[in-house]
Amino acid sequence: MSHRYDEFVAVKADAKLNAHALRADFPIFEQEFHGKPLAFLDSAASSQKPRQMLEAMNHFYETSYANVHRGVYELAERATEALEHARERTRAFLNAPSVREVIFLRNATEALNLVAYAWGLWNLEPGDIVVVTELEHHSNFVPWQFIAGKRGAELRLLPLTEHGELDLSGLDALAAEGNIKIVATTLVSNSLGTINSLDRLVPWAHEQGAIFVCDGAQAAPHMKLDVQALGVDFLAVSGHKMCGPSGVGALWGKTELLQRMEPFLTGGHMISSVRADRTTWGELPHKFEAGTAPMAEAVGLGAAIDYLEAIGLDKIEAHEHELAAYALDRLAEVPGITLYGPPADRRAGIVSFNLDGIHPHDVAQILDLSGVAIRAGHHCCQPLMHKLGVAATNRASFYLYTVPEEIDQLVEGLYAVRKVFA
Ligand SMILES: Cc1ncc(COP(=O)(O)O)c(C=O)c1O
Repeated sequence: MSHRYDEFVAVKADAKLNAHALRADFPIFEQEFHGKPLAFLDSAASSQKPRQMLEAMNHFYETSYANVHRGVYELAERATEALEHARERTRAFLNAPSVREVIFLRNATEALNLVAYAWGLWNLEPGDIVVVTELEHHSNFVPWQFIAGKRGAELRLLPLTEHGELDLSGLDALAAEGNIKIVATTLVSNSLGTINSLDRLVPWAHEQGAIFVCDGAQAAPHMKLDVQALGVDFLAVSGHKMCGPSGVGALWGKTELLQRMEPFLTGGHMISSVRADRTTWGELPHKFEAGTAPMAEAVGLGAAIDYLEAIGLDKIEAHEHELAAYALDRLAEVPGITLYGPPADRRAGIVSFNLDGIHPHDVAQILDLSGVAIRAGHHCCQPLMHKLGVAATNRASFYLYTVPEEIDQLVEGLYAVRKVFA
């Protein structure tokens, strides 16, 4: 039997996030689609943008725009200050020890590739082992597979339990094989919403002498991250998933590792001196920021961080847990549905499912006619789909602006889908 949303709400009203009120910050919700209010349930792919963030980018373009770090005139100094302020906001958001460890890149994919190329390519030897998991997004899988292959190293996958959580029972056997150099996992799965506890895995990786690379793309929007408490060596995030613009992401890495690494991309800005016979690299973080920075985008990311922190990451996380619990309960009532992933208390606001005998693309397309936007496909997680024994799933994902009525709209839409295929 399903419940009404308010029966789920365990958190006291005054401590709660008011998603209905927050929606006014997001201009996208002023539109209708197919004559229906938009039920946007695809935030795991990319989040919507609050006015505050859009205005900060606009303000930068209108008042402070020039190329950064190069100019000596006031406008260029103002632009540089804005970029460096965004870096400081990102540092504080991740509780990184130093701004020099925060590298602005295009997205999380580029951040993970940076570590794969600038650390993996130089440090892996034939016979070494790189450990990833069956849960990974291709962005934290393919770079490791590729670089391991180039270096003659082996890629090993930590398996999942039937609930889509990491099964760590094979760690001792893996350790006995030796030569583990890199362990790379996501903190939150974009497909199943699984929240990975890294408490055991990070110390284990370090005991093996490996570095630990954390894909924080799906965690950073939804929960308070603290790189020092996590104990990881690198962490990657994407701005567009956390109310920021597309085109900017960040890599955090430990100073001692970043300093010992060769650059990933070379060219302008990342140098100290260039002579005909030799080039030397700039200081951190510039060594890893070749070319013109994503300036306005970084300013937008800084404003997005301000926005998220003003609401409170703890409130956002609690809101999503409630929505996940509500969605799992309501979806379970739909005939012929299969729900994937762990129980609500161990997952972020992401729910993957399939309807018996109906292809996810058909489901998503018919839902669109009800104003419901969900994702259908392999979610860039083909190894996981293989494990689940499916080619694709439907995925509904939630954020701070998601309201329970959108989940109701989804469930009603699924009944409509069933009718089409009856
Ligand atoms: C868990 C996870 N890692 C990495 C990425 C890659 O992010 P981006 O496409 O912004 O580089 C995504 C995007 O969906 C993701 O969900």
